[in-house]
Amino acid sequence: MSRLEEHYSADDIESRILAAIRAAGLNPEQRLSPEELGALDHFHTGGLRASRELLEIAQIQADDKVLDIGAGLAGSARLIASAIGCRIDCIEMSNDYCTGAALLNRLTGLENRIKIHQGSALDLPFPENSFDVVWMQNVGMNIADKRKLYGEIFRVLKPGGRYAFQEMAAGKVTTSYFPLPWASNAAHNYLISAEEMRSVLSECGFIVELFEDTSDSHLSSTLANATPAAPGQLGLAVFVDNLALKAKNARRSLEEGQVRLVRGNFRVK
Ligand SMILES: C[S@@+](CC[C@H](N)C(=O)[O-])C[C@H]1O[C@@H](n2cnc3c(N)ncnc32)[C@H](O)[C@@H]1O
Repeated sequence: MSRLEEHYSADDIESRILAAIRAAGLNPEQRLSPEELGALDHFHTGGLRASRELLEIAQIQADDKVLDIGAGLAGSARLIASAIGCRIDCIEMSNDYCTGAALLNRLTGLENRIKIHQGSALDLPFPENSFDVVWMQNVGMNIADKRKLYGEIFRVLKPGGRYAFQEMAAGKVTTSYFPLPWASNAAHNYLISAEEMRSVLSECGFIVELFEDTSDSHLSSTLANATPAAPGQLGLAVFVDNLALKAKNARRSLEEGQVRLVRGNFRVK
C-alpha cells in the first residue's frame, strides 16, 4: 500500500509533495520542469530514463490524442506533453495519486494539456476509437484480467492507433522475493510471461511492431529513485512504504531471472 493510500486529505497530500519539493531545494512558487521532478514521479523500472526511451519508440505527434493508463503522479504525461506539445488524458485508480498528479500539473504549468480522470483500466470511461496512442508503464502487473485490460486498450484506440508500454513479465523461475513494488505476496503477483503477453495482445487484435526484453539494460536502475543518494533528494519513498526493501527484491528478482522487464509498441490493425 502506498503512503498516499492511507487516506490523507487532499491538503495533506499536497503538503507532503510540496515539502518534498522544497526539501530538494526546488521552489514550487516558480514554474518547475518535468525533468526536475523526474525522481519523484516516474514510478517504474528505469525511471525517467526508461520514459525517455519509450517516448522515442512511441513516436507521438503533436496532434495525437494520448491516454496514459495507471498514470500514477503523471510524470510521464508531463514529459510527453512538454516534449511533444500534445494533449493527454490520464486514468488512475487512486484518488490520492490523482490529487498529486493535478498538483504537479499546475506546478509545471501543464494543467491545460493534461486531464486527470479517476477510474479503472478495466472500465475505461471513453468511447471506442478515442485515442491515437495508449501509453502504459508498470501497471499490468497489478491487474489479473489481462484479456479485459488489453481488450479495453484496443477498444479505445483508433484504427492504426498504437499501444506503447513497458511492463514486468514473469521469468522462467518462480518469483520468491516479497514484498515487491507491485505485490506484497505471491497471491497478488499477476505477472505473465512475455510470450503470454504477446499472445493475449495478438488475440485482442494487436500487431507487433516492437517487442523487446530490456531487463539487462535497466538492471542498474531498477528503481534508482527508491533510495535517494542524499537526504532531501526527491525519490519515490515520499509515497511508497518500505520501498528500499521492495526495490532490493525487484532487483534481485531481475538478476535471478524471476522477473523480466519488457517494452513494446503494438498497432491496431
Ligand atoms: C507502479 S505505478 C506506475 C505509475 C505510472 N505509470 C508511472 O510509471 O509512474 C502503478 C499504478 O497503476 C495504478 N493502477 C493499478 N491498477 C489500476 C487499475 N485497475 N486502473 C487504473 N490504475 C491502476 C496504481 O494506482 C499505480 O498508480
